[in-house]
Amino acid sequence: MTAAASPQADVPGRAGGQLPACAALKRRRDLRHTRPAGAWVSLSVVDLSFSDTRLAALYDRLHPLSEPERGFYLPIIMQAGSVLDVGCGTGALLHAARRAGHVGRLCGLDPAAAMLARARARPDIEWLCGDLAATRYADEFDLVVMTGHAFQTLVEDHEVRAALAAVRGALRAHGRFVFETRNPSARAWEGWTSRTPTEVLDATGTRVQVSRRVETPFDGRTVCFSETFVGDGWERSLTSRSTLRFLDATALSGFLGEARLAIEAQFGDYSRQPLTPASPEIITLARVAA
Ligand SMILES: C[S@@+](CC[C@H](N)C(=O)[O-])C[C@H]1O[C@@H](n2cnc3c(N)ncnc32)[C@H](O)[C@@H]1O
Repeated sequence: MTAAASPQADVPGRAGGQLPACAALKRRRDLRHTRPAGAWVSLSVVDLSFSDTRLAALYDRLHPLSEPERGFYLPIIMQAGSVLDVGCGTGALLHAARRAGHVGRLCGLDPAAAMLARARARPDIEWLCGDLAATRYADEFDLVVMTGHAFQTLVEDHEVRAALAAVRGALRAHGRFVFETRNPSARAWEGWTSRTPTEVLDATGTRVQVSRRVETPFDGRTVCFSETFVGDGWERSLTSRSTLRFLDATALSGFLGEARLAIEAQFGDYSRQPLTPASPEIITLARVAA
């Protein structure tokens, strides 16, 4: 859950190719946006750590839903009759909401089929594999959330704009969009390169070592990093390459305003402390503007 949240349990990935990660990603993103909207679902760029079945199965072990995140998001979800979780991953938050007694509509959307396969363990929630900008949701949710820093997977300006327009379209009048993005001024990436690998056991008890390396530190816009997974007895290691966008509060407010989403409150962490330059997060509660 906190994949994108703390150096230990923090850092989602994004698959690269033969090209250096950022260039490969940009080429694939450009390709995606030269196609008609209907083709976007199949062309979504997803990190190997989310698209590979073996790596997706490690996600919740490496990034369990943290108590602070649960404590912040769950009450907001429980108050909403219908909820869309964009970039829901393995669905941990919606599972928690159902377990906590949410009786309304819960819907999880994610472009990574391997992550959604895990989410589908609960059939009493709607799961949709795809890209938000390609969905046809219209005026049907009281709340849209994007957690685990899924928002930072929107790298290009046109992706941020398309996603926010789709969020706005999916919300009912007075609906809310609640999400977090890491505060660039807290420079979280400086702690992301592993000194020693993290060890985790997969479902079969196989030991997997995970090493992270920042490939391109913050360039004023994005951070590129890789995660390498080495399992005892695996034929070869797997490396997932990722790029995340870091928007500051001013830029974020500009994008939200363009999408006619009004900021209701902003916090610097999950315990609702005020946002300061040292805050790890920019947590935003936005409401559909008139
Ligand atoms: C770090 S995980 C967070 C998952 C979950 N929200 C959580 O908190 O555990 C980021 C998720 O965003 C998804 N993702 C990647 N690109 C996306 C996009 N364009 N739109 C929505 N989700 C995307 C990934 O497949 C992945 O499951």
